[in-house]
Amino acid sequence: MALIDNIPALIEEIRQLNANNAEELETLRIKYLSKKGLVPQLMGEFRQVAPERKRELGVAINNLKTEAQNRINELRQKIEDTQEITERPDLTRTSYPTPLGTRHPISLVREEIIDIFSRLGFCLADGPEIEDDWHVFSSMNFPEDHPARDMQDTFFIESHPDIILRTHTSSVQSRVMERQKPPIRVICPGRVYRNETISARAHCFFHQVEGLYIDENVSFTDLKQVLLLFAQEMFGRNTKIRLRPSYFPFTEPSAEMDISCNICGGKGCAFCKNTGWVEILGCGMVDPAVLEANGIDPDKYTGYAFGMGVERITNLKYQVKDLRLFSENDKRFLEEFISAN
Ligand code: PHE
Repeated sequence: MALIDNIPALIEEIRQLNANNAEELETLRIKYLSKKGLVPQLMGEFRQVAPERKRELGVAINNLKTEAQNRINELRQKIEDTQEITERPDLTRTSYPTPLGTRHPISLVREEIIDIFSRLGFCLADGPEIEDDWHVFSSMNFPEDHPARDMQDTFFIESHPDIILRTHTSSVQSRVMERQKPPIRVICPGRVYRNETISARAHCFFHQVEGLYIDENVSFTDLKQVLLLFAQEMFGRNTKIRLRPSYFPFTEPSAEMDISCNICGGKGCAFCKNTGWVEILGCGMVDPAVLEANGIDPDKYTGYAFGMGVERITNLKYQVKDLRLFSENDKRFLEEFISAN
C-alpha cells in the first residue's frame, strides 16, 4: 500500500511521537522532514496520482507536513525546558557569606579620638593639606630662618617656596583663630607630610589630631585634666600620664606627654624600651605671640594646644610594628581589624 493512502494513520503516528533528548529529536526530524524523509516521499507519490485526487491529497500532505513540524517544535521546546531546569542553580544550597569590607585602623583610631574629645565639647575643624608658609610656620611663631623650622623636614614646591605640604595640623589652629573669636574649642584631625626616608619607623606622610582650647582663664591644669581623661578613655582606666618639659615654638610652657606603657602595663618591655612609659603627644599653653599673630588679645585670653600622631596611638592599641603597613592596602593586614570595626 502506498504511503499516500495512509495519511490519516501517519498523522496519528506523528501526534504520538516522542523524544527524550536532542539526538532522538534529530532522528525524528530526519525521518519526517529531511530531503529523504516522509514528506518528500509523499510528494513523490503525489506526482503519480490521478488528477481528480490531487486536490484532496495535496491538502492532506500539507496537513501532515504542518503536523510534523508542529510536533517536532513542541518536542524541541520540551527538551529545552527540562534542560533549563537542570541548569538552574540549586536554590536550596547554603549561600556563601558576602565578605564585609573593613575600616582602616587609622580611621578607627581617629574616630575614637574624635569621639572622646567631642564628648568633652570639642568641635571638629579642618584646613588644607597644601598650605602656605604663614599658616604652618610664621603664624605659629616660627620666625623666618629660625632653626625650629628644621625640626620638621618640609616638602617645598620649587617654583613657589611659599607653598608647602603642611608638616603638622597646627596650621589648622591658625586657620580657626583667624576666623573665630574665643571661646574656641576644636579638634583638628588630618594628614601631614614630612620629607623623611620611608622605613618601618618613619613615613613621608602620617596623621595627627590637634586640639586647641582658648578662652578666659584657661590654665595648664585644664590641659592636664583633659589629657588624663583622654588617656584613660583611650587606653583604660588605670593608665597614668606624665608630662616632661619640652619645646615647641607655638607653646610656652611646652611639654611632651607619656602614658604608662599599655603593652606591658608599665613593667617594661621592648615597645617602651624598658622604661614603662611611651610618649604619645606634644602640648602646652598657646604662646601669647601666636594669639597675637592670629588676632586674639593675649591679655584677655589664654589657651592650650596639643597634637598627637594617630599612627603612634594605633601602634600602641594594636601593636603594628611597621608603619608602611598603614599605606600598603594589603587586604590581609586590613582584615585583621574586622573585629575592631
Ligand atoms: N605640632 C606639633 C608636632 O607636630 C605637636 C604639637 C601640637 C605640640 C600642639 C604642641 C601643641 O610635633
